[in-house]
Amino acid sequence: MAYLLFFNLALLNPLLLLLLASSTSSVAQLVHLGCQSQCGDVKVDYPFGIGKGCGRSEHFQLLCKRNDRGRVKPFIRRNNLGYDLEVSSISVSEGLARIKSPVSSLCYNRTNGYVTYDFAGADLTQTPFWVSNTQNMFIVIGSNVYAYISLNGTKSRYTAGCEPQKLSGGSVVSSSCSGIGCCEVTLPIRSKSYFMLIDLSSSNSSSSSTCGYAVLTEADRFRFSTSYLTTPRSFEKDVVNLSVFLDWTISSEKCELAQRNITSYACVSSHSTCIDYHGLGYRCSCVHGYRGNPYIRYGCQRIKDAQRSVPVPLN
Ligand SMILES: *[C@@H]1O[C@H](CO)[C@@H](O)[C@H](O)[C@H]1NC(C)=O
Ligand SMILES: *[C@@H]1O[C@H](CO)[C@@H](O)[C@H](O)[C@H]1NC(C)=O
Ligand SMILES: *[C@@H]1O[C@H](CO)[C@@H](O)[C@H](O)[C@H]1NC(C)=O
Ligand SMILES: *[C@@H]1O[C@H](CO)[C@@H](O)[C@H](O)[C@H]1NC(C)=O
Ligand SMILES: *[C@@H]1O[C@H](CO)[C@@H](O)[C@H](O)[C@H]1NC(C)=O
Repeated sequence: MAYLLFFNLALLNPLLLLLLASSTSSVAQLVHLGCQSQCGDVKVDYPFGIGKGCGRSEHFQLLCKRNDRGRVKPFIRRNNLGYDLEVSSISVSEGLARIKSPVSSLCYNRTNGYVTYDFAGADLTQTPFWVSNTQNMFIVIGSNVYAYISLNGTKSRYTAGCEPQKLSGGSVVSSSCSGIGCCEVTLPIRSKSYFMLIDLSSSNSSSSSTCGYAVLTEADRFRFSTSYLTTPRSFEKDVVNLSVFLDWTISSEKCELAQRNITSYACVSSHSTCIDYHGLGYRCSCVHGYRGNPYIRYGCQRIKDAQRSVPVPLN
């Protein structure tokens, strides 16, 4: 609750406010005083925060650190699968976010008969995030492999499978996932977690050395390339730019209930409103004609005044 503390301080000491205002240039920045509002090239606005005491609760706390490519990025912690998930963008005004897609891979070396694999997924159960089923597709690349995705953890598990058809010297169209060398399936449900497994296709495991990949990613941003089948490991280079589309809510309560407790109700800005989101909980939004951050006091600003508080586009 660092931002509340700051406002109390500011009321008591107008001089301090003046001093602070001269070193920063907008209200939106002032409310994050003492908390980082940026991590690398990603904006981290309240209710999210970097480190202890920043962010609405520990569920909204992100880590800020270097990724394996040496770039500073925010990460979602406490992934029960044992690794942090890299966040590529967050939109506070729209309740959306993107994380770098985890990727599962399996490679078979015909010469020595070795199979190497790395299976991945994401577990968002301790976070405000959900894996969108309308924006993401489960995509499998390779030949002689099949893969499946299990959703929602071990309880009420859902699985979907996909087996690309073998490339038979024919024409595979680059840029589209046609079923040959690449297949895709839609997820049946929005979920908190998923895990992707790959196996060698029993129909033919005796063919040449091969790698198979499985990834969950935004369907409209994925472009299939035939080089993924012909050039070993070329997919691994491109996968760094693939992301999973997430939704998030501020709490799992419904608006009606949340509004009863003024201490915990999150839509604190004037000109903000509460929105029930698909039974997942509620979100805050600025009313028509206003935009900005509904989760902070004075966060929603009249559109013509809101030069500096433009919602961060998801890039
Ligand atoms: C397959 O195994 C052979 C023998 O161990 C090795 O020389 C070769 O580099 C491996 N191929 C791949 C693609 O890893
Ligand atoms: C998925 O898991 C969540 C959280 O445990 C639960 O609320 C939801 O009902 C589950 N969905 C399905 C379709 O089983
Ligand atoms: C597997 O592939 C090899 C070589 O491409 C072929 O000779 C064999 O008949 C195939 N086996 C099956 C079960 O499809
Ligand atoms: C990934 O995206 C960055 C930034 O848009 C771009 O510079 C880079 O070339 C992309 N990498 C790949 C492998 O597409
Ligand atoms: C209201 O929310 C606060 C903060 O989360 C909590 O401590 C308090 O118990 C809640 N009050 C009621 C009546 O639920």
